[in-house]
Amino acid sequence: MRKMLPTFLKPEALQGYIGMMDVIAQRHFEDSWQGKEEITVFPLAKGYTFWVACKVFLSMEDPAQISKFSQTFNDLASGIFSIPINLPGTPFRRGIKASEMVRKELMAIIKQRKIDLAQGNVAPNQDILSHMLLATNENGQFLNELNIADKVLGLLIGGYDTATASITFIVRY
Ligand code: HEM
Repeated sequence: MRKMLPTFLKPEALQGYIGMMDVIAQRHFEDSWQGKEEITVFPLAKGYTFWVACKVFLSMEDPAQISKFSQTFNDLASGIFSIPINLPGTPFRRGIKASEMVRKELMAIIKQRKIDLAQGNVAPNQDILSHMLLATNENGQFLNELNIADKVLGLLIGGYDTATASITFIVRY
């Protein structure tokens, strides 16, 4: 991961995301901010951050699919910051269930992407997922699918509340 991350997070790579982030920001403002008397920034910033992450990491485009994915992901994120008691009805149990669903969704995306890459339907450097699928370790081995799903999950978690909180503070101050 440490070797791979700079490839898509170095300044030159980030420059390439600006246009897309701007388009998503404009659509987000039109859909969720425009014409409102009052807004609560944190949940809206979450939606925006997740949308950008889904696009940069996975090239997900469909707002309906992203919205559904984000609901499951929210349960997962709440489970991380919860008391670790695995009983029915607890946020921890909901988080575990949500993580299974998120992994399942990611595995489906990975399988489809492998087909698309093999058929040349997508560019090898299209997003972080393609980078991960084509990256090899010191022994020339590819990462397995579950490992990739876990790494994407880790990046989604790492970039979610952090970036959302930063955006919210920027608006606040
Ligand atoms: C304003 C937003 C962010 C803040 C405040 C933030 C904060 C941090 C901090 C404090 C660490 C170090 C944790 C430790 O080792 O103790 C860290 C590590 C990390 N962050 Fe972020 N982060 C942000 C955004 C992101 C984003 C957008 C991503 C993914 C695209 C990301 C991925 C990672 C990864 C992979 C690590 C582990 C790096 C390593 O150990 O080599 N972060 N982050």
